[in-house]
Amino acid sequence: MTFKDLGLSDSLLKAIEEKGYTKPSPIQEKAIPGVLEGRDMLASAQTGTGKTAGFVLPILQILDNGTEFRKRPIRTLILTPTRELAAQIHQNVKEYGKFMDMKSMVMFGGVNQKPQVSQLRDGVDILIATPGRLIDLNNQGHVNLRKVEIFVLDEADRMLDMGFLRDIQRIMTLLPERRQNLLFSATFSKDIKKLANGILTNPVAVEATPENTTVEVIKQRIIRMDKPRKTAYTIKLISEGDWQQVLIFTRTKHGANKLCEKLNNKQISSMAIHGNKSQNHRTKALAQFKKGEVRVLVATDIAARGIDIPLLPHVINFEIPNISEDYVHRIGRTGRAGANGVAISLVDNDELAYIRDIEKLTKQKFEKEIIEGFEPPHIDEKDIKAPKGNQGQNRNKGRSKNPNSKPGNKKHYHNDKNSNKGGGNRGGGNSSGRR
Ligand SMILES: Nc1ncnc2c1ncn2[C@@H]1O[C@H](COP(=O)(O)OP(=O)(O)OP(=O)(O)O)[C@@H](O)[C@H]1O
Ligand SMILES: [Mg+2]
Repeated sequence: MTFKDLGLSDSLLKAIEEKGYTKPSPIQEKAIPGVLEGRDMLASAQTGTGKTAGFVLPILQILDNGTEFRKRPIRTLILTPTRELAAQIHQNVKEYGKFMDMKSMVMFGGVNQKPQVSQLRDGVDILIATPGRLIDLNNQGHVNLRKVEIFVLDEADRMLDMGFLRDIQRIMTLLPERRQNLLFSATFSKDIKKLANGILTNPVAVEATPENTTVEVIKQRIIRMDKPRKTAYTIKLISEGDWQQVLIFTRTKHGANKLCEKLNNKQISSMAIHGNKSQNHRTKALAQFKKGEVRVLVATDIAARGIDIPLLPHVINFEIPNISEDYVHRIGRTGRAGANGVAISLVDNDELAYIRDIEKLTKQKFEKEIIEGFEPPHIDEKDIKAPKGNQGQNRNKGRSKNPNSKPGNKKHYHNDKNSNKGGGNRGGGNSSGRR
């Protein structure tokens, strides 16, 4: 199967060729025809397998073939959970639509709204946005979504979990009832699928790989470790392995800052990215990390979803996420587009139950390594406690409403809609909310 066989137009084929893609990925083969037919879709495929082009290419074609509007109303709305992902998809839209007369823009909080307002005034075909700023600019009367034909939720399960659901529901009231809805993610829980089906009309379900599974090319290592020794071991891994590009996930913003500082003290150049950093810092940190100018990016789950760092060789889970799906997304920052990758998880005794849950979700059994000198205290199997906040209604405990949050900054409340009352930590649960 070729991209041409999928019925894509010459201008798209030319742009695809420039990107260097030789053939469609399995999810692209499956999703593109359905989207072109105008179907609603719930699509899932593993991380790094090209879901973005799976919806962007057919959308561009549909819009290009559609009615010409003198004033370019917004005809496609793509929502994402983080600003960085919105910016990345915007970049993809520009690349794939390079040979078309298509205007797109990205909209998110944490930056001056003026340029966004003026872009809107000039007319936009495709809007890629995070929910907070979109609602804010709509409240101010700057956005009109009444002509939206296609509505996309990328990272749909994240967008529909408690943290974003109300915003999404609000935004849907601004859209025309008749529209095409596309939901994409690498993971969908049963509950979220049910919720998703409420949004979709007569949808096709498209799956390229078994649900919630991890990519085979990612070598996953699970190392049991004494909690206080994690930092020392991380430094050892990076220096002795001479690793030059490592993405490290922590559970909290504070933890990210702390680790970042310790790595810098050991001459391992590092930057932290999380919801308490200014947007300027966030953008800079990601860009420098991508370019290889900084060796380590220490991140909260803000960087777990959708972010594409081609050929990133190493991911470390310094702490294990209490939401199993987050594990799948985090390690999926490596091993993209068929490249190899290694994901190392440092697991202390308190986190063993999270690993058990991850095994269940991803239908695999990990071998657990123990490294001499870093051994955890002995623990009996029966003492491994059930994880907090990973199941059923507890799922969202402690999850922040929105990972773009800048807690405590009231001025940003309307801009970002997410500085929710200080801590950004809903449900009063554990620390996963402080991303
Ligand atoms: N047909 C293709 N051939 C080769 N590379 C491709 C193809 N389609 C997409 N890619 C590349 O694969 C990488 C991953 O694509 P993308 O970000 O769309 O993955 P994804 O499935 O959305 O992953 P995630 O679940 O992490 O969001 C990108 O660098 C993209 O340019
Ligand atoms: Mg994606």
